[in-house]
Amino acid sequence: MRLTPGPPREIDLDGVDLFDLDLYTEGDPHPVWDAMRERAPLHHQVLPDGREFWSVTRFEDVCRVLGDHREFTSERGTVPTHLGADDVAAGVLLTSTDPPRHTEVRRPLGAKLTARAVKSWEDSIRRTIVRFLAPALDGEPFDLAEQALLLPALVTGPLLGIPEKDWAELVQLTAMVTAPSDPHFRTGSEAATLAIAHHELVTYVREWVLSRRKSGFEDDSLLHHLMNVRPGGAPLTDEEIALDGYSILLGANVTTPHTVSGTVHALMERPEQFDKAQADPTLIPNLVEEGLRWTSAACNFMRYAVDDVEIAGGTIPARGAVVAWIGSANRDASRFPDPHTFDITRANAKRQVAFGFGPHFCIGAPLARLTLRVFFEELLQHFGSIEPAGEPQHLRSYFIAGMTHLPITAQKRRTP
Ligand code: HEM
Repeated sequence: MRLTPGPPREIDLDGVDLFDLDLYTEGDPHPVWDAMRERAPLHHQVLPDGREFWSVTRFEDVCRVLGDHREFTSERGTVPTHLGADDVAAGVLLTSTDPPRHTEVRRPLGAKLTARAVKSWEDSIRRTIVRFLAPALDGEPFDLAEQALLLPALVTGPLLGIPEKDWAELVQLTAMVTAPSDPHFRTGSEAATLAIAHHELVTYVREWVLSRRKSGFEDDSLLHHLMNVRPGGAPLTDEEIALDGYSILLGANVTTPHTVSGTVHALMERPEQFDKAQADPTLIPNLVEEGLRWTSAACNFMRYAVDDVEIAGGTIPARGAVVAWIGSANRDASRFPDPHTFDITRANAKRQVAFGFGPHFCIGAPLARLTLRVFFEELLQHFGSIEPAGEPQHLRSYFIAGMTHLPITAQKRRTP
């Protein structure tokens, strides 16, 4: 998805198709969202097949939809690619469960992923990132977006307890779930791609659990931890573990790489921001927040209205689907002045909602923040400059904002 909007243009909000994949691959969605925030903060669209959904685009409305499970439930699905098909994992999968059950499952898992808990991983993450960046330093073109898809696997693989030999396949499967129409990942129709990938991922985790039970082997990994969690006093079933493992795999794999590519792309477009961060590494944590705001890799999440809800000057009827556009909320000028300027010194960059808001706020945020900070520390320490070596290619998805290719060439920094 194009992250720096092109020149202003007339937008016909009655005719706009927010599920048009071309809008995200070749088009320019930011001017559309700008117009929606201004003229139609509650937008309604009916798809040609009759499915319909409402959209909110302003910061405060996005937070309300994501944050209030009494008005907007997660239990009928949260991913817009599944619009209209009730979630079969409702009330079982962490992401499709409302409090209080959600809180019970999430608490013990969250304890393993706090900033303090993941800090112990910093040295190993740094070694991984140094190895990851090394090939880019020989001055040859390096496809950052393509390579970055493997980054979370290298970083979180050991944390999850999954052997490295399986990562390439799991990365491919998670990409198929999030961008089933992208030619890089598609296998047959979009529905078939989704079904195959979902089935194989859940089966993978289920078999992982079974083999652990058989061997009796224990370790400190996150998946193993799930086997010992006792929400409400009872252990999770194997099905619940498989589904939660699935959502951790998805969460870990599909977002961080696109934040890396989108932020590096923003820095290449603005070498003065690159120089500023290099001159003052204390700016790196804020660069990470601005990169999260700018890229908003999870471009939206969906909820369903429980009853009729008044919001953004209109009404969403009971059982209506509503898409909360995170990418738009993060460019709302009422919160982020001059929102389409990428500024690593932005005062309130940390108020971004790229990790969502409320009970489902990203459980992996501390790990993602740590990975991104270490990535940019190493990049700025070792790279003197980065330049584009070709046009970026955008992911064919209205759910995940990302790139499939970003060729770069880098020069070694002379005096690190
Ligand atoms: C830049 C990186 C990331 C971004 C932008 C991101 C974004 C998000 C967002 C917006 C949500 C909220 C979903 C909702 O409201 O329904 C979420 C939830 C979640 N994320 Fe992330 N995520 C990132 C990294 C990660 C990582 C590294 C992991 C795994 C370690 C992860 C695992 C999860 C899980 C399991 C949930 C569901 C939490 C719940 O339902 O309580 N994410 N993420």
